Amino acid sequence: MMEELCYHIIDIVQNSISANSKNIKIKLKESDKEDLISIEINDDGKGMDAETIKNVQDPFYTTKSGKKVGLGIPLLKETAIHCEGSFKMESRVGKGTLVTAIFKKSNIDVPPIGEVKDTILTSIVGNDPCDIDITYENDNGCFNISTKEIKEQIGDLHITHPDVMRFLKEFIDKGISDLQNYT
Ligand SMILES: Nc1ncnc2c1ncn2[C@@H]1O[C@H](COP(=O)(O)OP(=O)(O)OP(=O)(O)O)[C@@H](O)[C@H]1O
Ligand SMILES: [Mg+2]
Repeated sequence: MMEELCYHIIDIVQNSISANSKNIKIKLKESDKEDLISIEINDDGKGMDAETIKNVQDPFYTTKSGKKVGLGIPLLKETAIHCEGSFKMESRVGKGTLVTAIFKKSNIDVPPIGEVKDTILTSIVGNDPCDIDITYENDNGCFNISTKEIKEQIGDLHITHPDVMRFLKEFIDKGISDLQNYT
């Protein structure tokens, strides 16, 4: 099992990047009221046919070139199901892919979420030129950030410019702290 759920997010987003996505939407929700944690990653990359979708969920599936066996998806699926949750992968060739993993929050084996702020910042600045839209939600409300909106606001500056990064870090830290430390 991966130590933190945020690592799974980074891992699944990497698949979307490899699939030549231009836009990726990430949703992370944790709710005590609903007793769940859910992760949703939606991309507009090359997609997969039904056969591939089935195969990639099997840890023993090997790609023809004899490369290493992919483990990202089977590992997330196994963890979710082990934690009384569910896993779903929907995809259409040429359209994109939606991965949904749900965990029962009170299950003793659910890995900690990890550093939500860092994961958001890394996803936002680390995947340029792909546009990322991230929503974090808990019982106190929700926080959203999107690279499209940021790029409109920063004009000629690049998203990895130190001043932009500093602003983004503060914006994300405040937004997430407000939701996580809400009383
Ligand atoms: N979002 C996606 N769009 C298109 N194809 C995908 C997507 N996610 C996964 N795949 C396909 O499923 C395969 C398996 O993914 P998985 O993350 O399990 O392993 P991997 O990415 O090949 O290797 P690893 O994650 O261990 O580096 C990928 O190689 C890719 O062919
Ligand atoms: Mg992968």
